[in-house]
Amino acid sequence: MKTYTIAVLHGDGIGPEIVDQAVKVLEKTASCCGFEVKLTPALLGGAAIDATGVPLPEETVAVCKAADAVLLGAVGGPKWDSQPGENRPEKGLLGIRKALGLYANLRPAVIFPPLRDASPLKPDIIGEELDLLVVRELTGGIYFGERQTGVEAGERFAWDTERYAEHEIRRIVQVAFDMAEKRRGRLTSVDKANVLDSSRLWRSIVDEMAQAHPTVAVNHLYVDNCAMQLVRDPGQFDVIVTSNMFGDILSDEASMISGSIGMLASASLGDSGFGLYEPIHGSAPDIAGQDKANPLATILSVAMLLRYSLNEAAGAGKIERAVAKALTQARTADIFTEGCGANLVTCSEMGELVAALVE
Ligand code: IPM
Ligand code: MG
Repeated sequence: MKTYTIAVLHGDGIGPEIVDQAVKVLEKTASCCGFEVKLTPALLGGAAIDATGVPLPEETVAVCKAADAVLLGAVGGPKWDSQPGENRPEKGLLGIRKALGLYANLRPAVIFPPLRDASPLKPDIIGEELDLLVVRELTGGIYFGERQTGVEAGERFAWDTERYAEHEIRRIVQVAFDMAEKRRGRLTSVDKANVLDSSRLWRSIVDEMAQAHPTVAVNHLYVDNCAMQLVRDPGQFDVIVTSNMFGDILSDEASMISGSIGMLASASLGDSGFGLYEPIHGSAPDIAGQDKANPLATILSVAMLLRYSLNEAAGAGKIERAVAKALTQARTADIFTEGCGANLVTCSEMGELVAALVE
């Protein structure tokens, strides 16, 4: 039987509980589809700081590199807030993305029909269907640029830099064109070209590359306008491509349209099929350990893992259908409303239900 090795990074806060549910679903799917998974756990974030003193131990990078794909929960929490910037849990997350060369972050925002009432947008604004994909650059820009904190003329200062080289823009924009070609053929590039040089370079490269992709309709939006358009008329979007920081912000906004940030999965990919899969939400320390979190974003990340890294598209479809079905019966607190017709369930109950519905 085919066996895949999956590195599992539970992380902090709700990370361990949501990953446990996602693993249940992964194992059930494997047995339905006739493959096996070997799980190799490793430390990241605050958990790694506690055990080893650093947020990204060498060992973790090695475990990930030896695997076929990586499944990650979330990192961070108040316990490590006093760590210096270089040693924060988040630095571990940025470090693993960089160490594995995962420059393309795919964040799909879809509304599952039973969740239409959980979206804060009015039904006429959501329209018939919502299915957009944010393609976020993940290993460059201001997250990784030069920075400094210091004191000058008797006062403190700090600066960060947004820098993009041409090849970094080309490769992420190429991913976005490929996705748009496979989807509905629309690509929106988001920048701040009315102010930033880095955005003007970004925009001109998108225009150059558009020549080679005549079947894709390309438009450009400034990031402030895009933030507004997402809540005014989200149906206009198919694929959105943007820089690391703009993508971070816009994907949180897009997630809320779909009902809850607890629903949005993500895939971080490099040049090979290898990838790291994680929910877009954080470690939610306020509800950690209470079995209340929504595991669906992590479960849907497993579906992406099967599709993009293991080439097990049938299994991915099984998980997505199981999630859609589960939502007609059960909801975690973040997506539950009185009278929604579904039962309020815990994180583990949701995981068990989805696993049971995978067939
Ligand atoms: C995300 C998160 C991270 C990011 C944080 C935790 C560093 O917000 O994955 O969206 O900004 O990339
Ligand atoms: Mg974010």
